[in-house]
Amino acid sequence: MKLLLVYYTGTYNTRFLTDEIERRLLDRGHAVDRVEINRAAKPVETEGYDLIGFGYPVYGFNSPLPFNRYLRRLRFRRGQKYFIYKNSGETFAMNNASSRIVLRRMRRKKLDFCGEYHYVMPYNIHFPFDRAFVREILAEDAKLMEIMLYRLERGIVSEIKSNIIYNLAAAAVSVQKIGGRVNSFFYRVDREKCVKCMRCVRDCPEENIRYEKGKIRFGHRCDMCMRCSFYCPTAAISIGFLEGWKVNGDYRLRDLADDPSPVLPYITAESKGFYRCFYPYFRRIDAEYDRLFSSSEEET
Ligand SMILES: Cc1cc2nc3c(=O)[nH]c(=O)nc-3n(C[C@H](O)[C@H](O)[C@H](O)COP(=O)(O)O)c2cc1C
Ligand code: SF4
Ligand code: SF4
Repeated sequence: MKLLLVYYTGTYNTRFLTDEIERRLLDRGHAVDRVEINRAAKPVETEGYDLIGFGYPVYGFNSPLPFNRYLRRLRFRRGQKYFIYKNSGETFAMNNASSRIVLRRMRRKKLDFCGEYHYVMPYNIHFPFDRAFVREILAEDAKLMEIMLYRLERGIVSEIKSNIIYNLAAAAVSVQKIGGRVNSFFYRVDREKCVKCMRCVRDCPEENIRYEKGKIRFGHRCDMCMRCSFYCPTAAISIGFLEGWKVNGDYRLRDLADDPSPVLPYITAESKGFYRCFYPYFRRIDAEYDRLFSSSEEET
């Protein structure tokens, strides 16, 4: 197959997943092109592709605005096949509503839905995940990716069901619509901490940060992706009303994924509170992975 992966990423979790999907597809002999959405990205020509993957992080139970805007600019062939690979920091069922805009748009354009997959990735907002937890997440994601590719190659469609309540609630809390614009008035850089590395200026996907008269300045087209504050080497950026939820510091996903030491279970049947919902989610992946791959491995 010839595939196109179109994705948006704030703090590069979705880019990491895209790298992993691309690598597995290439290993299987498929051809892959990819587009990372940012302000400068031109609409890609979709015509020659057998299958298109749309990747995005969940933002406030929705797909990110720049992602929605970019999709609106694309032209597709009637009946063109697509799938969704989204990710978020938790597995709450409300996240299921996040694809409603993409699904509706693709239905209108008469595309052929081939499945939707939800990956967990570490939070880039709220609170940082423990290293051991991230390693377990990445191990489960790797299994889900094998399941996803197995199904895509065989035309097995898997749906993630939402409902009218979640959809309405997700529409109501679509934080980005005005949140990013309003919040951007309150972004500040601590001049004592800032080492003027210019990483934030270079990396903002919206080209919303500039260096002027010795100061870092923010414009008002922020999409709340958190890239600037997450990767600032000195945690110098404060992010307005989200400051209490700021997460700063690279998870180093590649190093964690490549770490050869055994992945120990961080989530158990006894996990409580926020962590409780991960146990059934991981076990469902394990069960499906074993069902698909264990018997064939034993035979070989
Ligand atoms: C503005 C914002 C809103 C978010 N909302 C949610 C959410 O509703 N549910 C969730 O599970 N994670 C949420 N997250 C966490 C991200 O979905 C998660 O960390 C994701 O892996 C980030 O991917 P990226 O690095 O590609 O941007 C939110 C993150 C941001 C920045
Ligand atoms: S990334 Fe941080 S340290 Fe670097 S220029 Fe921006 S605010 Fe300053
Ligand atoms: S200003 Fe920061 S949070 Fe806003 S879009 Fe740019 S990098 Fe993302």
